Amino acid sequence: MYRTHTCGELTTKDTAKNVTLCGWIQKSRDLGGMTFVDLRDRYGITQLVFNMETDSELCGQARKLGREFVVQASGKVRERSNKNMKIATGEIEIEVSRLVILNRSELPPFTIEEETDGGEELRMKYRYLDLRRSSVKNNIMLRHRVSQEVRKYMDSIGFVEIETPILIKSTPEGARDFVVPSRMLPGTFYALPQSPQTLKQLLMVAGFDKYYQIVKCFRDEDLRADRQPEFSQIDCEMSFVERDDILDTFEGLAKYLFRQVKAVEFIEPFKRLSYIEAMSNYGSDKPDLRFGMKFQELNTIVKGHGFQVFDSAEYIGGICAEGCADYSRKQLDELTEFVKRPQIGAKGMVYLKYSTDGLKSSADKFFSPEELKKWAAAMNAREGDLILILAGERKKTLTALSELRLEMGNRLGLRKKDIFVPLWVVDFPLLEWDEETKRYYAMHHPFTSPKPEDIHLMESDPGKVRANAYDLVINGVEIGGGSIRIHDASVQKLMFKVLGFTEEEANIQFGFLLNAFKYGAPPHGGIAFGFDRWVAMFGGQDSIRDFIAFPKNNSGRDVMLDTPSEISDQQLNELMIQIKKNK
Ligand code: AMO
Repeated sequence: MYRTHTCGELTTKDTAKNVTLCGWIQKSRDLGGMTFVDLRDRYGITQLVFNMETDSELCGQARKLGREFVVQASGKVRERSNKNMKIATGEIEIEVSRLVILNRSELPPFTIEEETDGGEELRMKYRYLDLRRSSVKNNIMLRHRVSQEVRKYMDSIGFVEIETPILIKSTPEGARDFVVPSRMLPGTFYALPQSPQTLKQLLMVAGFDKYYQIVKCFRDEDLRADRQPEFSQIDCEMSFVERDDILDTFEGLAKYLFRQVKAVEFIEPFKRLSYIEAMSNYGSDKPDLRFGMKFQELNTIVKGHGFQVFDSAEYIGGICAEGCADYSRKQLDELTEFVKRPQIGAKGMVYLKYSTDGLKSSADKFFSPEELKKWAAAMNAREGDLILILAGERKKTLTALSELRLEMGNRLGLRKKDIFVPLWVVDFPLLEWDEETKRYYAMHHPFTSPKPEDIHLMESDPGKVRANAYDLVINGVEIGGGSIRIHDASVQKLMFKVLGFTEEEANIQFGFLLNAFKYGAPPHGGIAFGFDRWVAMFGGQDSIRDFIAFPKNNSGRDVMLDTPSEISDQQLNELMIQIKKNK
């Protein structure tokens, strides 16, 4: 037997026991007569003690241990005189009587401790060493815990876990596909699933009325902190359901996970906001509701006073930052610079301070104190508040004001990591107009059902049609999204027509699904959650990278595996692929 215990479990209750531990050398301290060694495994750290007086040979051996050596140590548990109450095993130590070096280690390229000196690139290159650090390890353990809880809950309510293939035909989720060339059929390709969307719908046709899967999805898209090219979804689908059945079922899952993992109870049902409300109140389809600062449109109040910025704007809107009337010139300049950054794109910012000595605005050349009072009233501002106003083209200004709202939320410490405010955003538009290609695209995917009451607008006013689609948003993060699907062949035909597909094109791309729908497709709908995002949120971080054991970097590279990489000419020949090399 290699070990009797782990490095995380011994306490004073085990005093005088003879034990054997295995692990990695975290660090050793040589204090002349005594040598102390911290032994680490996945469970914790235990202190080993070697005494020069009682066994000088063993102590000499211990002194030669290098960082990250793998050892087996046997000895007696004893209570420590100098206790470390910060760790579970901090009250005991092992008086070692036998030491076996199981393997040596080269000096690691960075310190494997909570605070490491390793930069991002180096940590990723040696990810297996990074994973030994407790902060990263704990994230992976949290991921494991959440996945177990998901499975427990889904099983308890009758969902069946079914795996779907990874080598499939392109699924239309809006990103680019990663493709895999076929050797057997040269010139043809599999696509890696952007999601198992079409397959889970086929499972509904097959009669598995409650399906779920924690599944890898692949999307070739621009990467950000909350986006990886390879990520995981908790993918779900149900038959014989309407929207509210799905929202209720998955609100149940969300509440269960929050209770089990974070000990957070949600008594009230999750708030629901329509897409239109979310956009007009917060300028975003994923508003962070941990704080207020709802938008107020000011068009009718501020237009027509000779202030060109307002008079020429399609939309003028503001937010009210409570208690910020004492913002300095410097702070206001910083905010103006913030909204003028190219990513945000506002031309400028107008403010109104409601301080004890009255109302003061950056536009008061054009507005009388009486008029400024009207602004304050419209914004529900009180003495001590600061109103920030942006103006311009409607959509752009709403988005810029949304960024400004989030920035103010950050500055005022209103976006606390341990507060969670979930909401459902419902009634998304079914279609999105693309100016470049001059056609409509499905906002979600082409199988999302329009709201029945809007179907009559499909041909006459497609942009107005609302989808029977919903997102779960928590703290400004899109945690999941789904929809009720089209199961009626005539509605699906209409949808393809509006999307500009000929019948032939629809058949080439989705024939397998359309064909299956001829054989009794039940009414169905579903949702998929971004598993990595949910775990990262539980872990209190914005980036999903440290919740994935082996993630890619921002250019989609795995620097540890050194991939994507070239393949041999022989492989290319077998696949009948010719690489065009630049001269
Ligand atoms: P959607 O495209 O909205 O829906 O994806 C569902 C959820 O997956 C997460 N997500 C990502 N997480 C990390 N990296 C990415 N690149 C990434 N892309 C998406 C988000 C998102 O809410 N088939 C539909 C679901 C359905 O209709 O049932 C789908 O995939 O949290």
